[in-house]
Amino acid sequence: MRWIDTLIHEAEQRLPGPVLTYFQQGAGLGLSAAEAENHWNALRLLPHVLRDVSAISTRTSVLGTEVATPVLVAPTTLQRQAHEGGETAMLQGAAAAGSLVCVSSNAGVPFEALAGPAPWWVQAYVLRDRQLTADLLERAREAGAKAVVLTADTPVVGQKYSTGPNVWETVPPEHLLANVTGQGLEESQLEKAADLTPATIDWLRTTTGLPVVIKGVLRADDARECVAAGASAIWVSNHGGRQLDGAVATARALRPVAEALADTSAEVYVDGGIRNGRHVLTALALGATAVFLGRPTLWALAVGGAAAVERALADFTSELAHAMALAGAPDVSSLTCDLVSD
Ligand SMILES: Cc1cc2nc3c(=O)[nH]c(=O)nc-3n(C[C@H](O)[C@H](O)[C@H](O)COP(=O)(O)O)c2cc1C
Repeated sequence: MRWIDTLIHEAEQRLPGPVLTYFQQGAGLGLSAAEAENHWNALRLLPHVLRDVSAISTRTSVLGTEVATPVLVAPTTLQRQAHEGGETAMLQGAAAAGSLVCVSSNAGVPFEALAGPAPWWVQAYVLRDRQLTADLLERAREAGAKAVVLTADTPVVGQKYSTGPNVWETVPPEHLLANVTGQGLEESQLEKAADLTPATIDWLRTTTGLPVVIKGVLRADDARECVAAGASAIWVSNHGGRQLDGAVATARALRPVAEALADTSAEVYVDGGIRNGRHVLTALALGATAVFLGRPTLWALAVGGAAAVERALADFTSELAHAMALAGAPDVSSLTCDLVSD
């Protein structure tokens, strides 16, 4: 058994029940969450032969930041419930693996404490209180965030059901809102804005001075509209199946989005159900510059903090390198869409 596959079982032993359920679950009937990995598994490859693969490089860059691996860390909440070090430990592990972290705006660690080990981006929910959003992002920028990732698939939070106690009744608020508590805020100020439009992209860009990534895009027409409105990158995601249940699998949505942006300078990323190096290879061949892992990095954090995050990212990367050798692709630029059979 792969060590990565043991993590979820180990995490099941360690995590409090409501937290485990929260990490695992999808929205609604859990259709999109359950099928994500299967759609990567269903894609077939057309490997090259007789290519010099004596040296394999997984190096790439995302929005100008060099990374040793295209396997990056998606934003997830409640990391301090997984491990006391929370986002700090996640960044340490990612730094050791030459990766990059997208930090949730609902992080359990103040942004200022993150300065240091790994390059990081800040994920934003634009709140109804725009000034509060702007202040939060300014703190992230000052603390070293290199891009802002707008999660666009969450005008309202997807309905999740569980039989046990609700996780929000068991978790201290500072594990969710380290960057917004302690300022005398009303709950209503933290509600997510439901009136976002493409114009929000320009507002974010000019407010923060950072490149803007739009996360949660599944349609080619939306992707083009976002880039025309100023987005530097599009992140194909259905939020790990936690928003609109029944939303298409990202393994299916990626190709049309990447094709629609081929004549632009925008980068494309993808997440959702990516569980091994072959999945990463398939995503890069279909047009992604990088992939992001959600739950796998949470399981690693829960089991062994920074060291386990480093090992998980390193294992994904060596699996990718192995698959690249077998596909006749010595570097990420040789991963082209003709490698994936229709
Ligand atoms: C427990 C949990 C919390 C999450 N929190 C956030 C969040 O705060 N912001 C966000 O944009 N996405 C969030 N996501 C979605 C992830 O960023 C990512 O899109 C998804 O987990 C990828 O799928 P995977 O878990 O199959 O790798 C969360 C996902 C999980 C599992």
